[in-house]
Amino acid sequence: MFFSGTLVENQNEILVEEILSPRTIAMNKERHESAVLSCEKMYPWYNFTDRDFEDSRPSIVESWHKYSHNHEQENYDQALHRPQLPFGLDDLARVSCQPLLTPEECQVLIDEADGMNKETGKQPWMEGGARYSTPSDRVGALMPLERLPKSFNLINQQLLPRIFCSVVKAYDCCASHPSELRIGGARVVRYDAAAGQVELGMHRDFLAVTVNIALNEPSEFEGGGTVVEALSDIPIRLQKGHALIHPGDVRHAGSSITSGSRYVLVLFLMSKTIIPHDRYLGEWAERCMGIAVGSSMEEKESWLQTAAKYYSDAYSMGGRIDRGLFPWFYHRAGLGFPMSKEMEI
Ligand SMILES: [Fe+2]
Repeated sequence: MFFSGTLVENQNEILVEEILSPRTIAMNKERHESAVLSCEKMYPWYNFTDRDFEDSRPSIVESWHKYSHNHEQENYDQALHRPQLPFGLDDLARVSCQPLLTPEECQVLIDEADGMNKETGKQPWMEGGARYSTPSDRVGALMPLERLPKSFNLINQQLLPRIFCSVVKAYDCCASHPSELRIGGARVVRYDAAAGQVELGMHRDFLAVTVNIALNEPSEFEGGGTVVEALSDIPIRLQKGHALIHPGDVRHAGSSITSGSRYVLVLFLMSKTIIPHDRYLGEWAERCMGIAVGSSMEEKESWLQTAAKYYSDAYSMGGRIDRGLFPWFYHRAGLGFPMSKEMEI
């Protein structure tokens, strides 16, 4: 076995015990188990054996360029940019030193997504929809992998043990073994200058780790790449088949292309061992707020107080000031976080 060792209680777990009640921890664990089950239903790509992982060994990416914060700078904003536990300051992003996919594997995905595969036929690209301050007509087009049977099978049967092993090599804090990883979303994204679908605004993703794999050569388009906000406003541009991995929570954007087409395989990964307590606490809080709306006057206060406690715990657990209802709470508390247009009611 080349992934061994016992499961180490990570810092996140130790902090959790200090902040959350045993009941809340149990609720969040249950919520996480159900999230993992939902992923397994949608993408049944987890029943890999040790043999599968061993067989992938010759093709896994062992070496990754490490991207860290320059957190010595005075203007470094911890609340906005520090990666959440179990990721550290040096874990902002990783870029593979070798390709993770071969040119042939990249081509299978592009051809099928573009309707060049006769068996699959032509599937319409989905509009990404207006998101993160980018209007819908400028957002890159999406093709969920589950609509592409040949690519689905290629990833499931051949590539995923390699990808999971490579991710653990890049970030050993996110899982002690590749079998702990699950796919929570998988899609091909196409940025196409001629169609005007050229970019995606600054945002955070929802799962533990995001994997971006360049499917075509950077010479086939101008501009493009991924901007990691805390790092620089200069986009990271990948060679064909290479991967950029980052904690899902790190703020990033798809930079505009100005000509040509750019294809990216994006995988959202969940780890069985990383429970995003802040996210689940935010969900409980929003649920309490929802119940409060329909409650009698006597019951409202109790529900709102419960919601406030969950929000407070979410904040203590590293909940982000620019996510969900946090910006509104910050603004109301006079904490100076700038109010966005959507909050100006
Ligand atoms: Fe993203």
